[in-house]
Amino acid sequence: MNTILEVKDLCKTYIVNKHQNNVLKNVSFTVSEGEIIAVMGPSGSGKSTLLYTVSGMDEMTSGEVSFRGKDMSKMKKDELAELRLDEMGFIFQQMYMLKNLTILDNIILPAVRSNKSTASRKEKQQRGLELMKKLGIGDLADNDINEVSGGQLQRACIARSMVNSPSMIFADEPTGALNRTSSEEVTDELIRLNSEGTTVLMVTHDSRVAAKCDRVLYIVDGSIKDEISLGKYTGPSSLRDRERTLNNWLMDLGW
Ligand SMILES: Nc1ncnc2c1ncn2[C@@H]1O[C@H](COP(=O)(O)OP(=O)(O)O)[C@@H](O)[C@H]1O
Ligand SMILES: [Mg+2]
Repeated sequence: MNTILEVKDLCKTYIVNKHQNNVLKNVSFTVSEGEIIAVMGPSGSGKSTLLYTVSGMDEMTSGEVSFRGKDMSKMKKDELAELRLDEMGFIFQQMYMLKNLTILDNIILPAVRSNKSTASRKEKQQRGLELMKKLGIGDLADNDINEVSGGQLQRACIARSMVNSPSMIFADEPTGALNRTSSEEVTDELIRLNSEGTTVLMVTHDSRVAAKCDRVLYIVDGSIKDEISLGKYTGPSSLRDRERTLNNWLMDLGW
């Protein structure tokens, strides 16, 4: 399997009131093309910071992050912006959907901003609508963002993260604010996207979500303490075993 993301000795330090907070300490891991990986760990352990720094959203203090072999810290600002827009999709906790746009217009915004395709606005809307249909929210295209439920909005966020057909999606607790049913639906969407070839790196607190991933990294105090490989999720019949394996592992880690 080809490596899509390689992280070497990543450190991130915040300085607040002259106090130095070493949030990430020499974190190293690689993600292969086509993998879906969950990042777990206690609150405040650095999971969101990890996602922000490896996706080029936030600057690292030291270390190296390469996307398809290209060192992101050596890229020019607009080169990095283009990489992020064209090759990466983002589903973050505070998903900033614009209030004065419809759901569909929010979804196609990354496509409108990108030069990746020469499609017309109409074609981009068509693609946005197809994604919405795929995600079961096809009839909400013209709704405002305050006219849909949390689960529907989160599916709209997934549609938006997909609109430029990214190679890799970064998701920070994509199911964090959802009830159990919506959480399962959103997780299954991510699993489906992954089975179609999209690489996924997601932070989650939910072992039911992580149990469907190929691999789980466990972060404590800014370092990867351990990881477990569960292999590809093949369907509901294997879920109980996967959950048991994962939960035993998490318990040993003090989760
Ligand atoms: N922008 C920031 N400025 C200063 N400190 C931050 C910032 N973002 C996060 N931190 C600190 O980094 C640590 C890890 O935060 P975070 O990555 O959000 O953890 P997690 O997502 O695992 O809960 C916390 O101590 C937090 O206070
Ligand atoms: Mg977080």
